[in-house]
Amino acid sequence: KPRLFSGMQPSADSLQIGNYIGALMQWRGMQDDFDAFFTVVDLHAITVPQDPKELREKTRRTAAQYIAAGIEPDKSTLYVQSQVPAHAELAWILSTITGFGEAGRMTQFKDKSQRYGSDQASVGLFTYPVLMAADILLFQAEAVPVGDDQKQHVELTRNLAERFNARFGETFTVPEPVIPRETARIYDLQEPTSKMSKSAESQAGVLYLLDDVNVTAKKIMRAVTDSEGIVRYDRDEKPGVSNLLAIYSALTGSSVAAIEDEYAGRGYGDFKKGLRDVVVAEFEPVRARALELLDDPAELDRVLSANATRAAEAAEHTLTAVYERVGLLRG
Ligand code: TYM
Repeated sequence: KPRLFSGMQPSADSLQIGNYIGALMQWRGMQDDFDAFFTVVDLHAITVPQDPKELREKTRRTAAQYIAAGIEPDKSTLYVQSQVPAHAELAWILSTITGFGEAGRMTQFKDKSQRYGSDQASVGLFTYPVLMAADILLFQAEAVPVGDDQKQHVELTRNLAERFNARFGETFTVPEPVIPRETARIYDLQEPTSKMSKSAESQAGVLYLLDDVNVTAKKIMRAVTDSEGIVRYDRDEKPGVSNLLAIYSALTGSSVAAIEDEYAGRGYGDFKKGLRDVVVAEFEPVRARALELLDDPAELDRVLSANATRAAEAAEHTLTAVYERVGLLRG
């Protein structure tokens, strides 16, 4: 089977619906056809300040949500990045073939470093995409299912793979991003021109997988729309309604046109109630299962550590080849 790699940062207590639609749903759909590696990328999360105790908890919670959403740890390799040291080892080597300017052009770095200011923004934040390239290349992944915001990082990964191969000989598989078209980017319900983010400052427009049902319902009913009153997709003129339509469509599999028809002549209130029912029905079982898994953290840790062993074995293969090619004297 071809290899697949993807991951999420444990940067909040709960994943949000953009993570679910942009990534998790794809992962679930692909895990049968690929030898898949799904990672909780805690080393990426610490590129911005984290509370140690909370980080550990968020890491477990993220892993539990993967499993609750249908990632099967017997089928796919589901583990925590820091438990496989090869990620950090390969990242160092890749950093030596990454241009300073090349890394500086990454838009996520520019956004985040602006938010933190140049004294607070760490070197780790700058080299974040190199660690992400290491994640992917370590497993010779062909497919990387992500949301649209990660496209530039996968592009960098491809460039680094090609550069390394040209300089040191064929070593890495050049990966392809797998990005769903219409739902590649889910927007904040209160600010429908900004990407929804689990670490957003205001949680009012973020639908968290682990939120209480009533909270989710309220957030949907309060979502920003417009004064036209017609359920119609128009990204430029109607970003709020269009975003809700995209979510509705992604979760039900109905086309946007079919949903527009269904709500023709009805107001936003009806439409939001419909969406509320769809989202709640989708989230409820995931939330219940995740909380159940978190009731037994020892068992969860055991599964993760067994999977990390499997990942480390797969990674060792690539790392040995890389050390050899680069001319490092292996003990
Ligand atoms: P992270 O944790 O920010 O997001 C996890 C996944 O969710 C997608 N996503 C979205 N998709 C649609 N709409 C949104 N509003 C939205 N918000 C987030 C992201 O695109 C991502 O697929 N750098 C990565 C983690 C990572 C990784 C990797 C991914 C580290 N190494 C290797 C793939 C392969 C990140 O920050 O994800």
